[in-house]
Amino acid sequence: MAAEITGPVIRPRRLRRTPALRRMVAETSVDPRQLVLPLFVREGLDEPRPIGSMPGVVQHTRSTLVRAAVEAAELGLGGVMLFGVPEQRDARGSGAVDPAGILNLAITDVVSEVGDELTVMSDLCLDEFTDHGHCGLLTPDGRVDNDRTLAAYAEMALAQADAGVDMVGPSGMMDGQVGVIREALDAAGHADVSILAYSAKYASAFYGPFREAVDSCLVGDRRTYQQNPANALEGVREALLDVAEGADLVMVKPALAYLDVVRQVRDSVDVPVAAYNISGEYAMVEAAAAQGWIEREPAILETLTSIRRAGADVILTYWAVEAARLLRR
Ligand code: PBG
Repeated sequence: MAAEITGPVIRPRRLRRTPALRRMVAETSVDPRQLVLPLFVREGLDEPRPIGSMPGVVQHTRSTLVRAAVEAAELGLGGVMLFGVPEQRDARGSGAVDPAGILNLAITDVVSEVGDELTVMSDLCLDEFTDHGHCGLLTPDGRVDNDRTLAAYAEMALAQADAGVDMVGPSGMMDGQVGVIREALDAAGHADVSILAYSAKYASAFYGPFREAVDSCLVGDRRTYQQNPANALEGVREALLDVAEGADLVMVKPALAYLDVVRQVRDSVDVPVAAYNISGEYAMVEAAAAQGWIEREPAILETLTSIRRAGADVILTYWAVEAARLLRR
């Protein structure tokens, strides 16, 4: 006589049987309000210019930038993060602090159109404005000078605040940058401007397409200021320092290769945590999907869900508009 097979008593599959059950017990969700769209604006353009390595992403003109921000507001996104690409660059990155610099003009354009409907954020870093492409000022022998750079960041923060920005995003990984920016903003009467600190920012190979997006002049690498990909504890340390210096949100960047860091930072701080789903992460999915090797829309949603599951409250992603539409369906 054949032995009778008794089935398992505990059956996790029961909760996966129908879409309604799966939806009810989902631990993580992605909501448009949690998504921030990075946008590029380039000085001197007559029409938007596609970025080859980021299909679907463009360098905007000042007017198409405003339209993109309005669309982001209409879709209920959390915000936009603005990056400026100037026509002229110099060793000091003068365009960053010039009230007539492209990024400062763009901030005013966008804020005057969307008002409080959308959080307008701006990249606070010199790399788009320097002719050497580094995130800071250089010493005569070519090293990145932390403390002189801090003074430049303070000045840049004031220019962006004067232009009307809601939140600045210092991304240069200089020691002490958040504290100096907070102090400068407060002293100038901009106590309401908040700081999204790029706290744990790694020296990543996945930034490749972004460097095309901003026509980067960088030769060499950023390993003396961005973090070693080997280090997670150091990421937590950077985040804690930024909170102590007055960061309103902290960020981990990139996202996908650093989901463990996102989780550790989430468990270590008491402010919202953002993660930046960066250009290379975008390009990999777009390229594989274009080849028919992966299914694009599920891959986008799975990517964003994984970043939320790791602990990110806010995600900067080039898919923000499209994801908001997919999520509405
Ligand atoms: C530097 C900066 C970088 C990104 C945003 N700001 C990277 C870098 O060149 O080090 C990368 C964003 C992306 O790859 O999507 N200020």
